[in-house]
Amino acid sequence: MSVEEALRTRHAVRAFLPAPVAREEVERLLALASRSASNSNTQPWRVHVLMGAAKHRLTSALLEAFDSGRRIPEAELEYPYQPAPDAWPEPFGARRRRFGEWLYGDVLGIDRGDAVLRAAYHARNYTFFGAPAGLVVTVSRHLLSGALVDAGLFLQALMLAARAAGLDTCPQASLIHFHPVLRDQLGIPDDQIIVCGLALGYADPDHVLCAHRTGREPVESFTVFHDDVPTD
Ligand SMILES: Cc1cc2nc3c(=O)[nH]c(=O)nc-3n(C[C@H](O)[C@H](O)[C@H](O)COP(=O)(O)O)c2cc1C
Repeated sequence: MSVEEALRTRHAVRAFLPAPVAREEVERLLALASRSASNSNTQPWRVHVLMGAAKHRLTSALLEAFDSGRRIPEAELEYPYQPAPDAWPEPFGARRRRFGEWLYGDVLGIDRGDAVLRAAYHARNYTFFGAPAGLVVTVSRHLLSGALVDAGLFLQALMLAARAAGLDTCPQASLIHFHPVLRDQLGIPDDQIIVCGLALGYADPDHVLCAHRTGREPVESFTVFHDDVPTD
C-alpha cells in the first residue's frame, strides 16, 4: 500500500473483530513508528501494549472507574497536556459539534438528550472498542510540551504503518481522563505524561460504526501561499 493510500484509508475505527494481532506484528509496527522524526532524535515515546488477560484487567478497571463516575474533568488533567480546552473557540466549537452530531446522530442514531445511550456508547472507549490490542503512549514530563509533537508524529506513523498492514486504529484521548487507573495498573511513573491510548486490530466491516467517514476542510481554508513572483 502506498503512503497516499494509507493516508486516504486510515480513519478512526470504533468497532473491531476479535481476531488477534500477533505480538511480533505489533513489535514490527512499533519499530516502523520509531523511525518518526523527533526533536534532536530524543525519541521520547514509551508504549504499553495490552493484549489478552492484561488488556482485560485494564479495561475492567477503566470500566469500573467510568461506571462509578471517577472521570477526571478536562481542566484537572495533567499539566502540560490537556487534550481539550474548557471552552471551545470558533471555528473549532462548531466543528466539534458537527462531529458529535455526526457520530451520535447520523452514525449511531442516538437522540441528543439520551444521556444513558450516549454513556453506554462512550463506555466502548474503555474496552478499546473491542480491539484485540490496546496501546498507551507516554512521554517524559521533563521534555515539556515539545515531546508532545514527537508523540503525535509517532502516533500518526504507527496508524499509517498499521493501515499498510491491513490493520486499523483509533487514537483515544478519552483514556487520559482515568490517568490514575492507567498509572496504577500499568506502573506508569509520575515523570511520564500519558498522551494517548490507541486501539489496534481489524475493523469489523459490517458494523455501522465502520460505514461512515468524517469530512475535511478544503486546503485553501487553512493555507496561505506566499509565492509572489519577484517584480524586479
Ligand atoms: C489526540 C486524539 C484523541 C482522540 N481521542 C478519541 C477518543 O477518545 N475516542 C474516539 O472515539 N475518538 C478519538 N479520536 C478520533 C477522532 O475523533 C478522529 O480522528 C476525528 O474525528 C477524525 O476522524 P477520522 O480519524 O476517522 O478521520 C481522537 C483523535 C486524536 C487525534
